[in-house]
Amino acid sequence: MSQREKALSDTAQLTVDGKSIELPVYTDTEGGRAIDVSELYSKHRYITYDPSLGSTGICRSAVTYIDGDKGVLRYRGIPIEQFDRPKPNFIEVAWMLIFGHLPTAAEMSEFRGMLTQYELLHEGLTHQMHYIPPKAPPMVVLSSMISMMACYYEEFLMPPDEQSFMMQAAELISKVRTIAAFTYRRNSGLPFIYPDPSLRYCENFLHMMFSIPYRQYEVLPEIEDALNLILILHADHEQNCSASAVRVVGSAKANLFASISAGVNALWGPLHGGANVKVMQMLESIYNGGKKPQECIEAAKDKSNPFRLYGFGHRVYKNYDPRAKILKSACDRVFAKLKTSDPLLEIARELEGLALEDPYFIERKLYPNVDFYSGIILRAMGIPTDMFTVMFAIGRLPGWIAQWKEQYDNPSTRIIRPRQIYTGAPLNDYKPVDER
Ligand code: CMC
Repeated sequence: MSQREKALSDTAQLTVDGKSIELPVYTDTEGGRAIDVSELYSKHRYITYDPSLGSTGICRSAVTYIDGDKGVLRYRGIPIEQFDRPKPNFIEVAWMLIFGHLPTAAEMSEFRGMLTQYELLHEGLTHQMHYIPPKAPPMVVLSSMISMMACYYEEFLMPPDEQSFMMQAAELISKVRTIAAFTYRRNSGLPFIYPDPSLRYCENFLHMMFSIPYRQYEVLPEIEDALNLILILHADHEQNCSASAVRVVGSAKANLFASISAGVNALWGPLHGGANVKVMQMLESIYNGGKKPQECIEAAKDKSNPFRLYGFGHRVYKNYDPRAKILKSACDRVFAKLKTSDPLLEIARELEGLALEDPYFIERKLYPNVDFYSGIILRAMGIPTDMFTVMFAIGRLPGWIAQWKEQYDNPSTRIIRPRQIYTGAPLNDYKPVDER
């Protein structure tokens, strides 16, 4: 507990079965209050019940702050809006999230050097990609390749120190971009384009995605800026589903690659990062004459229908997701600069307008989240829909690494091992098969 937390600490009284139990209460940097139940079982033999962990803090973290009621998001204390304009570089933000402060010029240059050094995949790993069925979902390819990295870079399976950790982080951030681009190329039947060390991070990704042999893709500054912004906006989001998966796996002292691979798999789910694909499918289906926008709203409200308004709602935000706000205006900027438009943007705006006036969405405080507008910008860049969640993963990687490191560096970390309320049979006897 920090000095500041100690000064603000307090206690809560829990009365149960006629007993009174005193529990410590902490106040976080921004005034949030937490009741410490960590010794409730060891000292009193009670567990707490919170199935989706909506009221449970699983760690102390200094990486990212969210105030969901006010729609506030800050990385290392810096409001997300400050990362829009003037734009920092995604790599600068990644470094800051992982190592705790904005990098100096020397730190940036060292890290950039590592990213360049590690951008190639081991050729063995590249060959492995050819054995995965051609139409494999890109998120499967990504998570498998990250797991597979452990076979090629065995030195990284040792518990890292400061320097080797930085190398592991750089290795992952650099290679994930290469794997992502190769995944797209492979699925499209196109030859791999190797990374070009003279290019910046986002520029290099776009080059690997869209150059073809003997024809260099011209990276428009507007497109590079938009990609940089998208990656920054996805870079961390405190204890979300995938970051928690990374922490759970990491708490068992699993290595960084195994933990990040788990994060990729969690992100794939349509309620989490996979929602950006669902949003695009919904917009395309409306455009192609499927349901009308109002019919989508009605279907989302119908509890007997599994359909949800993807890109809407959030466990923490009960207000407009600040990332969605930035992306919505970025759509206008991108299309104005490219002198193009997309009818799907009009449909998205119409859906948003209908939802925000509908009592169902108003009462439940459901607003657009980061996934609602991101796909429209990715589409403008030429990124196919099935790669959208991979783009989210490239962006979220620094956050996962930062969360993993924060936990790894904390000497009081124990394996994450929740409890349960048992609802099964009472004591029972085994019967041999002929007696059943
Ligand atoms: N469409 C229709 N109803 C919804 C939606 C939605 N998109 N989101 C929430 N609700 C309803 C929900 O059914 C519940 O209704 P009721 O009170 O009648 O039972 C109520 O709103 C409150 O839901 P909640 O408890 O706030 O939801 P949750 O915290 O369990 O789930 C969520 C959060 C993001 C999974 C959910 O809002 C959702 O499924 N949204 C659509 C998927 C999506 O866009 N996911 C991306 C999230 S942001 C990026 C990321 O984290 O990856």
